Amino acid sequence: MSYDIATWLGLGLRWLHLTAGVAWIGASFYFVWLDNNLTEPDPPREGVKGELWAVHGGGFYHSQKYLNAPPQMPGHLHWFKWEAYTTWLSGFLLLGVLYYWGAPVYLIDKSKVDFTHAGAVLTGLGFILGGLLTYEGLCRSPLGQRPKLFGLVWFIALTAAGYALTRIFSDRGAFIHVGAIIGTVMVGNVFLIIIPNQTKIVKAMLAGRPVDPRLGPMGKQRSVHNNYMTLPVLFIMISNHYPIVTAHPLSWLLLAMLSAAGVSVRQFFTRRHYGETRHEYLFLAFVLFYLTAVVATEVQPKAATANANVGFAAVQAIVGKHCLACHSTKPTHKGFVAPPNGVAYDTPEKIAQYAPRIYERAVATHSMPLGDETGMTDQERADLGGWIKAGAKLR
Ligand code: HEC
Repeated sequence: MSYDIATWLGLGLRWLHLTAGVAWIGASFYFVWLDNNLTEPDPPREGVKGELWAVHGGGFYHSQKYLNAPPQMPGHLHWFKWEAYTTWLSGFLLLGVLYYWGAPVYLIDKSKVDFTHAGAVLTGLGFILGGLLTYEGLCRSPLGQRPKLFGLVWFIALTAAGYALTRIFSDRGAFIHVGAIIGTVMVGNVFLIIIPNQTKIVKAMLAGRPVDPRLGPMGKQRSVHNNYMTLPVLFIMISNHYPIVTAHPLSWLLLAMLSAAGVSVRQFFTRRHYGETRHEYLFLAFVLFYLTAVVATEVQPKAATANANVGFAAVQAIVGKHCLACHSTKPTHKGFVAPPNGVAYDTPEKIAQYAPRIYERAVATHSMPLGDETGMTDQERADLGGWIKAGAKLR
């Protein structure tokens, strides 16, 4: 029995990645909410900056935030870091299994750049490392002290990376690398700054030394950045379900617009925690979302015109040439042991049954054939579209 190792590894890793990500983002949303909802301690208490009462799951909870640190270290102190580390580790392994091991299928698009396997992997890793270094450099520069301007510059830097990546990699490969840069930066913030600074604070306290007052705000700066990066990175992680975005000629712009919408939604909630309801942020997000849909729909490359009365025989030939290697009950394409997503076009009935999905992937967008390995022509796409529009008839 030969196991489809990549698929099973992918399944396990994706499940773990999702679970760890939920735990991490959940805890992080909770703490942003908690921090912003703190009220003056009542009655006032020495060294306590704010407090919060909450009821959940049948119990009452009372949290308080200290100005610097509590007068003495509690016996048990909870740290929040493994959620973030596990998310990154499982995500990185998943990237490795899917996009690096499977680079010829998922990462390389020969019609863009004809990378060697190693060249593609090194370029991908280079972008992730380059992204992390750029971010760290910006944070440490004077720009780091000007949060709004920093946000704008970092947003432009990521958009530029998105533009470059969509020129050289497959559509999904490009998007996932933007996601990997953001995810790495976010976990880097936890691993390189937030946790080490907290460790230094705790050590200083235990040794009875004064705590360096710069350590706390440095961690806070990074956690504010992470707060705004969450919604864009979550969209990227589900983006490969939406070739209407990823396979669009202006995909980098659509990604930037949707990310800005995500930041705006996050801003709405962050302000709201302070008791400020600023509907304009939700409105802005909605406008950006709507404009994305308009651009995605209106801006389309000029398509070829379908040949008059495309018959089923011509369609079957096109599908046979460009799709069957993968989408068959017994795929012949290297790396495929089962039809992708269970979608096989072996019989005329199957082709007709899946016609709307075929239209979405191979006519309306160029997201199939994957990586356009077979170099499907515009004429073939138009013919396929013409046949589907005319009712996908088997004659
Ligand atoms: C190199 C292998 C390969 C080739 C060739 C290929 N596909 Fe795919 N296809 C995939 C993979 C992998 C997926 C699953 C990932 C995804 O949805 O992007 C997929 C998914 C799809 C889906 C989405 C199925 C669903 O409902 O979830 C459609 C539709 C599709 N392909 C159509 C086509 C058409 C039409 C062609 C030929 C023009 C084609 N594919 C050629 C690999 C291939």
